[in-house]
Amino acid sequence: MKSIRDIELRDKRVFVRVDFNVPLKDDSVADATRIHAAVPTIRYAMEQGARIVLASHLGRPKGTRDPQWSLRPVAEFLDSLLGQPVPLAPDCIGEEVERQVNALGRGTVLLLENLRFHPGEEKNEEAFCKALARLADVYINDAFGTAHRAHASTAGMVRFVPEKGAGFLLMKECEYLGRVLKSPERPLVVVLGGAKVSDKVGVLENLVSLVDTLLIGGAMAYTFLAARGTEIGDSPTESERTGTAAELMERARTLGKRLLLPVDHRVSTSAKGDQPVQVVGGAIPRGFVGVDIGPET
Ligand code: 3PG
Repeated sequence: MKSIRDIELRDKRVFVRVDFNVPLKDDSVADATRIHAAVPTIRYAMEQGARIVLASHLGRPKGTRDPQWSLRPVAEFLDSLLGQPVPLAPDCIGEEVERQVNALGRGTVLLLENLRFHPGEEKNEEAFCKALARLADVYINDAFGTAHRAHASTAGMVRFVPEKGAGFLLMKECEYLGRVLKSPERPLVVVLGGAKVSDKVGVLENLVSLVDTLLIGGAMAYTFLAARGTEIGDSPTESERTGTAAELMERARTLGKRLLLPVDHRVSTSAKGDQPVQVVGGAIPRGFVGVDIGPET
């Protein structure tokens, strides 16, 4: 994999696909971890005298221009983080955007509006890929959190851009994961969270034979707990995946691996974060949803 360091960036329009799919609260960035993670690549490109075009999705607006998923709060956050204005383009493709990109000076940054305002992004449509590619002399992927999606900005457009490589975040994660998958130090403990078992089945099936212990948290833990017959109250589950969860637990048992689920929970009457939270052990009572693991876990 070619790295950003292997490519001459000076004066080039460098399109950096980042993952700025961050939590928002009251129209501001509520957790900037992903933005900070992309900064080494952005700063390097600035120092190299590139003209930087940042592109990301935010949420799942399903191909429509839904203002609640505008990247404006991210642009405002980047202004102060980078210490220079980071304008938000009115869209991610089109004549006006091309004009703004072509007017970028050396070391300056423009953030494109949400890629998922266009259905062509998730459908990986060729016309949309080409429209994005018109903004780029160099394509850099630093969107580690989205690299598993075969969308226009993460996959399709790449074949229409002459030079391409990986940013520092993507390189670091691939090196680290490569080491862990090839020759891990033991014991190897994997902590896995997230909402959906369906997104992680492949990963889980692969990892279960490699790891010594698998710790499952996040909302998907409730699907596993339900599969084990534990009462989970009104917690979110993928009911069609309890069979998969049961099979994975059985596979872990046969292989002699430890697959651990939460033994206590933070629960609330609502998952929105607007109701008090308390801790319960074991079963989750009706009327409550699990919102996190408990201290015992
Ligand atoms: C994520 O947060 O998991 C990535 O940004 C990908 O988002 P998605 O699950 O909406 O494709």
